[in-house]
Amino acid sequence: MAEIIYDTASLAWIFQMEASTYCMRLNEEQTSLQHIYWGARVDTTVAREMALAWKTYFMSFESTAGNSREEFAPWGEMRFNEPALKVAYADGTRGIEWRFQAHGIEQEQGSQTLWLRFADQVYPLQVTLYYRIHTGHDVLERWVRLENNGADAPIMLEQAFSADWQLPRRERYRMTYLHGRWGKETQVTETLLAPGKFVLESRRGTTSHQFNPWVAFDADASATEEQGELWSAGLAWSGSWKIVAETTPYGTLHCVGGVNDFDFRYRLDAGTRLDLPAFVGLYASGGFGALSRQWHRYQRARVLPAELESVRPILYNSWEATAFAVNERNQMELAEKAAALGIEVFVMDDGWFGERAHDRAGLGDWTVNRTKFPRGLNPLIERVNALGMRFGLWVEPEMVNPDSDLYRAHPDWVYHFHNRKRTESRNQLVLNLARPDVRDWMFSTLDTLLSEHNIEFIKWDMNRSISEPGWPAESAGNPERVWLAHVQNLYWVFDALRRKHPNVAFESCSGGGGRIDLGILSRVEQVWTSDNTDALDRLRIQEGFSYAYTPRAMMCWVTDCPNYLTGRSVPLRYRFHVAMAGSLGIGGDLSHWTPEELEQARGFIETYKRVRPIVQNGKLYRLRSPRSGQVTASQYAAQDGSEVVIFAWGHSQQFGERLIMLQLCGLEVDAHYVEGVSGRSYTGSYLMRYGLEAKLVGDFDSQMFHLVRADRL
Ligand code: DGJ
Repeated sequence: MAEIIYDTASLAWIFQMEASTYCMRLNEEQTSLQHIYWGARVDTTVAREMALAWKTYFMSFESTAGNSREEFAPWGEMRFNEPALKVAYADGTRGIEWRFQAHGIEQEQGSQTLWLRFADQVYPLQVTLYYRIHTGHDVLERWVRLENNGADAPIMLEQAFSADWQLPRRERYRMTYLHGRWGKETQVTETLLAPGKFVLESRRGTTSHQFNPWVAFDADASATEEQGELWSAGLAWSGSWKIVAETTPYGTLHCVGGVNDFDFRYRLDAGTRLDLPAFVGLYASGGFGALSRQWHRYQRARVLPAELESVRPILYNSWEATAFAVNERNQMELAEKAAALGIEVFVMDDGWFGERAHDRAGLGDWTVNRTKFPRGLNPLIERVNALGMRFGLWVEPEMVNPDSDLYRAHPDWVYHFHNRKRTESRNQLVLNLARPDVRDWMFSTLDTLLSEHNIEFIKWDMNRSISEPGWPAESAGNPERVWLAHVQNLYWVFDALRRKHPNVAFESCSGGGGRIDLGILSRVEQVWTSDNTDALDRLRIQEGFSYAYTPRAMMCWVTDCPNYLTGRSVPLRYRFHVAMAGSLGIGGDLSHWTPEELEQARGFIETYKRVRPIVQNGKLYRLRSPRSGQVTASQYAAQDGSEVVIFAWGHSQQFGERLIMLQLCGLEVDAHYVEGVSGRSYTGSYLMRYGLEAKLVGDFDSQMFHLVRADRL
């Protein structure tokens, strides 16, 4: 059971989680919250001993505050490391001197939350630090509430991060993180941290393709896929963010992060408060594999919206087939073909609205294009429903093309500065969603769309970063708050739509995987992983995704060859096997698929339906990485251990391994597992020690195995 204990003897708070312990205490003066311990579970008495052993170290030319390992460092006194909070008061004083005020522990179903209140000793700034843990998890959610309890003067926030994670004292750390670009998201990379700061960030107003707000640390680069200790953290924020991993001159590592302080100023008016997004931490002791499995489990249980259904449905998406040239006839034809394959949701992508014949016009005009759909959308939706599928629709509500009725009516609704150009990207500008009128327009436009049609799935796209983030009408006020307010209002619209239309599932897309984070994942059922649908490239993208996020939310399409981005052709079977490793979709132009291909596809879809509970809700073991060798392999095990699914994907030529033996993980040594195709029975011990043989012949061959424990057959 998750438990937070306040130990009066040591002034410490001790968090007992599933297999880990976290501990912190106040200093004697109650002016600083000191980190004590984060790691493998220890007895509460041991945590108390650690807290009692805590002491400050004197160092010439430094102060105690500047040197101590604080849970949340307010900038002030002799603090020169990256702080967590920096403010300016109205009289010109900058810097915080705070004191502890109060604390409390609250219980919810399966969770406990500790709050700790600090207040500036002179000014009316109150800071509440929150820590929440959940039974069955080793996750610690941290966030902060800032309040101005004064009567008149505002407080200017110049830096307001969500948490500072202090890592145990070790000689040297490696940091693993996910980077990329459009069409090449979530690439796993790592670096050894030397003294100094390593900064990951987005200044784009959105999560970004370039870096994902997720990190993992291990001491001395000692963790492997299935062994070793890891400390990891991820931000629940879909706007500009920053994570700073700082190794101090004294060899300690801390990792502080939250809303990006670049170009950030937030005026906290008297009587108001601001809740900062969560920065979530996780300790795991079974290597990167265990770390990922814990993130996945946490996301399924605590982050993703409450289940509409136990597995994600298989969808068809029209984008690669018909691009902007959608119309009632071609969509109905695709829908017929999709239904015959066993598809469950038919999604019409871009092109259905306004004057959207190409990407130069129409964004913002969310009314049906009557040339393409003379009878509106309902006849198509009815046909899709009659075929036994749900209907889904693409939207990009935060954007506007200058060539649109919306922009002609409201040119002031986009981010812009006086005397500066409005830089277009993909011929579009970004709506200033910080504005209450834009927020209300967005909600009512989407609400109308959902109320007038039987739409059960929305793909919410966002195809450019924010530039010229100005709000001229607010220039005398606090226009820099747009960085925060855009995302807050985006979340507000999502939350309001979900409340009013609980039958609608959402997908977050941002030119592929540009908006994947714990914040958006609490509002959508799934994300579009990448616009790159090339199966070989996908192996790396999907591997990186799986480090931080659950395969259940990872949308993967089977598309046509040669691939539109890479020009590569790989067998249909390979494309299916790669896409079946997450949430399966089809994105090819079915009107060109041969009867044999359609038949093959029907078979794969049938198979996927049998194995998807294991893939989407099971435990993932990455048996072989696409970054090493010529074969990638993944194993998914049902939570109750009764079934196992394995995919093996060969890469291209190069004479390599003749006999590929995959040593499986997490099986019961003495149990017998029967493989579906060969009917052969193996013991768990054999499969884990000797291995399962994969036969991969030639370029881009792949194999899927489905093993069922003999006593469950
Ligand atoms: C970018 C998305 O990632 C694609 O899947 C597609 O929806 C296009 N936008 C449509 O413009």
